[in-house]
Amino acid sequence: MSHTDQNQEKNKEHFEKLYANYNISNILHWLNHLDSFLDSATTTETSWFALYQGNFRNRLKGKKVLEMGCGDCTNVAVMAALGAEVYANDIASASGEIVRKLNENYAFKHPIIFVEGDFLNNELAAQSFDFIVGKAFLHHLEIPLEREFLRETARLLKPDGEARFFEPAVNSRILDEIRWHIPIGGRPSKFDKAAFAKWKESDPHPDRSFSSKHWKKAGAAFFNDVRIIPVGTLERFSRLFGWGERRNKFKRWALKNEKRLPWALNSFFTRSQLIVYKGVIIK
Ligand SMILES: C[S@@+](CC[C@H](N)C(=O)[O-])C[C@H]1O[C@@H](n2cnc3c(N)ncnc32)[C@H](O)[C@@H]1O
Repeated sequence: MSHTDQNQEKNKEHFEKLYANYNISNILHWLNHLDSFLDSATTTETSWFALYQGNFRNRLKGKKVLEMGCGDCTNVAVMAALGAEVYANDIASASGEIVRKLNENYAFKHPIIFVEGDFLNNELAAQSFDFIVGKAFLHHLEIPLEREFLRETARLLKPDGEARFFEPAVNSRILDEIRWHIPIGGRPSKFDKAAFAKWKESDPHPDRSFSSKHWKKAGAAFFNDVRIIPVGTLERFSRLFGWGERRNKFKRWALKNEKRLPWALNSFFTRSQLIVYKGVIIK
């Protein structure tokens, strides 16, 4: 089995487990309080803040949208509730089961369509999507496979379509090394060599570049207009604020104000990024 196939197997195994028997009641609650959910998520949570920048929320109605790596399907459900015609794909078939339950329990104008199986062999029509999005998705692919997904993104987008990807950013080796040495959640510190190696075995992330420079170059092979927007330079310090409203207050302040920082500083210290590709290069 090739290295890329092994990584994909690891992803499938990890995420099938994570989403098995997923309870959709939270998603349904958010759909039933959509405005207040989005007001809060897009001002407090890095991934929502990033992906929904530039009035994305109001640009979705009536648009044909594809989400790659839809995971627990919260975002596909939100986009469908906002009136988009949504196609969803994930390597984990458990995501398809979530989509089925969502369609059964919420009256979307257009039920969500799950694209089953190996996405690169899909039969979707060329130039048929207004938006293609991915939330914490591309960085799960090894770089040669990512290139195929970007090629497919360019094939599926309408000439005036737009791709939006929210991904982690690692633009400084030193900061990255520091990060690996601080234990977080279930991940041990790199100082604890044995525990770290054990954790790494089950981690579904490939060893690859997560730099803005990489995604700039990768996108430029298929798109004329490539924009990288750093997100999370100040927000990354929210961990110092414990949990609860104090932390959320800091996050809101940080996300709102960090764009005032000089671009170079933001780009160096950022922990994540919104990647926007437009202007498909027609080949
Ligand atoms: C970090 S999760 C993000 C899920 C979701 N987008 C979110 O924001 O919560 C990455 C997702 O990518 C999916 N994935 C990984 N490789 C994939 C592939 N080749 N094709 C489709 N989905 C893939 C995983 O199964 C997982 O659901």
